[in-house]
Amino acid sequence: MALTEKQEALVKESWELMKQDIPRHGFRLFALILEIAPGAKDLFSFLRDTDEIPENNPKLKAHAARVFKLTCESAVQLREKGEVVVADTTLKWLGSVHLRKGVLQPHFEVVKEALLKTIEEGVGEKWSEEMKNAWGEAYDHLAAAIMGEMQVEA
Ligand code: HEM
Repeated sequence: MALTEKQEALVKESWELMKQDIPRHGFRLFALILEIAPGAKDLFSFLRDTDEIPENNPKLKAHAARVFKLTCESAVQLREKGEVVVADTTLKWLGSVHLRKGVLQPHFEVVKEALLKTIEEGVGEKWSEEMKNAWGEAYDHLAAAIMGEMQVEA
């Protein structure tokens, strides 16, 4: 399903706000992921040997930023083309990284819930049901594309 211009605008607008403070939002994203699914902790190299979520860890920030950014890009593609077109190699790479790390289908739901909550808290008064649906839709398509690659490779 394609995204409307309004939905695309909502995603872009909130990403512009969120990206001004990736350390804070990235930290919150991981805190929420572990709150929802404590077992996901050991999947991440930078969380495995610690009881606390490290602040300012470059890998943590990188993962959070990529989840945000790729979801935002997929919103743009969904509006323009009606489908998610991550470059083929990137999608294959994303599939193989997550397969290798032992990520499972339900984890994608966990990250979705955490992502939406992080954005809700991050944008404050700008948050709306419409914004939530736009991010949710963009994320679902991206996640489905990554999971599709994971299945091809498995
Ligand atoms: C690694 C993106 C969802 C767990 C990565 C990397 C990218 C990425 C780009 C490679 C980082 C690198 O090696 O430089 C995404 C995107 C997602 C997503 C765009 C959703 C749309 C998830 C989910 C999980 C997960 C649902 C599981 C809870 C991991 C783990 C790594 C990884 C464990 C390896 C990180 C490490 O230990 O250093 N992800 N990811 N990702 N991702 Fe994701």
